[in-house]
Amino acid sequence: MAWDPAQYGLFEAARARPGHDLIAALPPCKPATVVDLGCGPGKLTMALASRWSGAEVAGIDSSPAMLGRAALLDARVAWELGDIRHWRPKAPVDLLFSNAALQWVEGHAALFPRLFDAVAPGGVMAVQMPRNFASPSHTLLRRVAAEGPWAAVLEGRLREAPVHDPAQYYDWLSPAAAHVNVWETEYLHVLDGPDPVLEWTRATAMLPVLETLTGAELADFTERYRAALASAYPRRPDGRTLFPFRRLFIVATRA
Ligand SMILES: C[S@@+](CC[C@H](N)C(=O)[O-])C[C@H]1O[C@@H](n2cnc3c(N)ncnc32)[C@H](O)[C@@H]1O
Repeated sequence: MAWDPAQYGLFEAARARPGHDLIAALPPCKPATVVDLGCGPGKLTMALASRWSGAEVAGIDSSPAMLGRAALLDARVAWELGDIRHWRPKAPVDLLFSNAALQWVEGHAALFPRLFDAVAPGGVMAVQMPRNFASPSHTLLRRVAAEGPWAAVLEGRLREAPVHDPAQYYDWLSPAAAHVNVWETEYLHVLDGPDPVLEWTRATAMLPVLETLTGAELADFTERYRAALASAYPRRPDGRTLFPFRRLFIVATRA
């Protein structure tokens, strides 16, 4: 996937907020090892490294562009190019953290217990994922994809529900857990600028389209999607746009 750190950084504060909320919800702990899976441009990894300055901290990501941006931040963190699907730590980790990344990885029924197995006894796994795939930002994307001349090439590229019901994660993690805390928060992001929801999804949900279509076809797709978003997310009287965004949080402590 062709991640673009500059586009991703356009709404940096709004995107980072759930990550900081996840860090704030961690139980009291003093991890010696911290791993951030899908660390992206690394700002949250740095927040973890600052909070536990004595810990060995690693950020793992499969995007060279994202990791290149992260590597500019701090050499104390081990920035590693790697794929979560194949990631196995050399030794169990005390804090396994992942913000807005695991929704990109398929097969949660096997993935979550496997990742939790990589956590040391008494250690913590903390995950945040969007669970807004039924909101207009995503349903309109899938509808434009299904209704245009590009329908055949885009078929199967936009997943309908990559994140499961909250209780499902409890069931997958609880057999090996001392405690599992699962909750959802719907943020009301306040976005500036023209077509901000399009600019937001251009960095994330729209990526499969951006790497499949080109030229006039991509321009046509983008205009249809832009127009649909503009009526689903109208500008407020103050010129800003409200973007409701539901997210799932999981904090599990290993037995
Ligand atoms: C939405 S960004 C989140 C970045 C960062 N965690 C944050 O909160 O700012 C998702 C990140 O997950 C990474 N990613 C997606 N699938 C991955 C995989 N299979 N293995 C490693 N990284 C992956 C992407 O490269 C991207 O940097």
